[in-house]
Amino acid sequence: MIKKIHHIAIAVRDVEKAAVFYEKILGLKLGGVEEVAGMDVKVGFIQIGETRIELVQPLDPASGVAKFIEKKGEGIHHICYEVEDTAAALRAFEERGAKLIDKTPRIGAHHTKVGFVHPKSTGGVLTEICESS
Ligand code: CO
Repeated sequence: MIKKIHHIAIAVRDVEKAAVFYEKILGLKLGGVEEVAGMDVKVGFIQIGETRIELVQPLDPASGVAKFIEKKGEGIHHICYEVEDTAAALRAFEERGAKLIDKTPRIGAHHTKVGFVHPKSTGGVLTEICESS
């Protein structure tokens, strides 16, 4: 059911400032910068082969990502796995005992269907699933 790691997300205070490391030091390229409506975040993607690093910047100080940075500082925020069908995967995970943040898919970056599994049932790692984009 899980096809690959789609992206690893890093919580940052500023997407463009954080991207300097990836572009100037690692020689990668930032693309796909967009504000995700309804999630109060600005994201930017750095493509690396089949996977990506997602830089996530909070736009609202009350958002989950803002609170994450306040508590833990900038750093790895979540891992996202690609699945064929987000809704079906969420149902299966719940049946297998996972605590979900999203019982049904929501629209994430680049208009893909995404869903989050609560870190309480993943060993502390916020876990996202998405369909291919
Ligand atoms: Co993500």
